[in-house]
Amino acid sequence: MKKIVTLAVLIGLSVYSIAEARIKISGRGAKMNFSSDGIPDMYKPAFDLMLVKCIKCHTMERTVIAVQTGRAPITGQPFNKQAVKAYGIKMLRKPNSDMDKKQIRDIVVLLNYFLDENAK
Ligand code: HEC
Repeated sequence: MKKIVTLAVLIGLSVYSIAEARIKISGRGAKMNFSSDGIPDMYKPAFDLMLVKCIKCHTMERTVIAVQTGRAPITGQPFNKQAVKAYGIKMLRKPNSDMDKKQIRDIVVLLNYFLDENAK
């Protein structure tokens, strides 16, 4: 019994600390999005770009969850800085992605910023 209680407390604490570290988001489910609150001005153009480009084929929920959990939600692959770059290129190469390399680079830099913020 004691073990179970200890375990429950540990799980509770780890869930709490993850929740604490999370970046600001808005909405839930399909409406889930990154919050623009507190985003430094230098990232704003990339943020606006991402809001348009990255919801063409799927909702932003996918990207938010990847940043928050550190795992890409479809494949379960790690979503860290190296992976962000690879995913950026993967999304760029998809048919009709309607993005260019420069735009992907800017969004990758922004997502790296979110990963840093999320780790704080
Ligand atoms: C042309 C369509 C298209 C666009 C535009 C697009 N995606 Fe995707 N995305 C997909 C598809 C299809 C998948 C499903 C898994 C796969 O093929 O990688 C996906 C999956 C994902 C995943 C989950 C990957 C995994 O392995 O679980 C993330 C994160 C993601 N996209 C982020 C983005 C970001 C960020 C952008 C904007 C830069 C973007 N997507 C733009 C089509 C697109």
